[in-house]
Amino acid sequence: MSKITARFHVSVVDLLKKKQAGTPIVMLTAYDYSMGKLIDQVEAVDVILVGDSLGMVCLGHNDTIHVTLDDMLHHVKAVRRGVNRAMLLADMPFMSMQIDHATAVTNATRMMQEGGADAIKIEGASPLLLEVTAHLVQSGIPVMGHLGFTPQCLQTMGGFKVQGKTLESAQLLIDSALKLQDAGVFGIILEMVPSEVAQLIRDTLRIPTIGIGAGLGCDGQVLVTYDLIGQFPDFLPRFARRYANVGVTIQKAVTDFAQDVATQRFPKEPDESFHFDKAQLPALTQYVHRRQAQRAEDGMESDLYADAQLYTPPVESTVSST
Ligand code: KIV
Repeated sequence: MSKITARFHVSVVDLLKKKQAGTPIVMLTAYDYSMGKLIDQVEAVDVILVGDSLGMVCLGHNDTIHVTLDDMLHHVKAVRRGVNRAMLLADMPFMSMQIDHATAVTNATRMMQEGGADAIKIEGASPLLLEVTAHLVQSGIPVMGHLGFTPQCLQTMGGFKVQGKTLESAQLLIDSALKLQDAGVFGIILEMVPSEVAQLIRDTLRIPTIGIGAGLGCDGQVLVTYDLIGQFPDFLPRFARRYANVGVTIQKAVTDFAQDVATQRFPKEPDESFHFDKAQLPALTQYVHRRQAQRAEDGMESDLYADAQLYTPPVESTVSST
């Protein structure tokens, strides 16, 4: 009898079981194949998120608003090729869910069918998004919610600000979390929320909460991997912890390489290069000389770059000559 083998990823049910058992869920972001593969090989990681934070840490935007569905698909596909075990969660980018239900289903389906995501994540819980979320879940798409500071609302939130600090806003957060649970999400990210509020939300919900800047009172934790390893040079949020500084390692490696190239210590002969058959080398050298002589005779050896200054673009003056 042939054995049925299937490729099983960490599932929604596994995450629910972890919450029930009180075992913290571990989530990290990845944006490309190699990082996805390296993280996937660490069995303690349950979920790999292709976050739209890629807009900032990979694409150099100031925010996540400029990330398009095509950007996301490009990176999700790459990470998918490296991830065989963890759940692969994909962020739905700015405005990909809000147009109408049909577009939301189409976009989410693309993320799963084309990108290969196991589940999607949607930021916010406005009445419109709650409706869309319920529609997607009922259509069979696993959705994770995201509350607290939601980076796609950077403008309306007035910057990177902790959410749920007042009684009123904390109550609103708890209500939103309950509404998302009722809409059918299988978990909620809580970003930049006071620990006490996050803990109350965790204790109120049946589904797991994953915190980022939300203290210990969550069912799990997520960080942007570039923050964790020190690969994003622009800033480090207060809630993130740097476990390594690969930025420094990268710059040292690049400096050493440049120095070795300058001093001709790279590549090392013969180990780091390939070699032509010694016996045939004289014949090849003679061939090159014959070719050069022929080309010179044919007038093909004029030096294109001899007059390099001819090709230098004129320097534009910023001072008006008038
Ligand atoms: O985009 C992202 O990386 C995220 C995490 C910060 C949760 O949404």
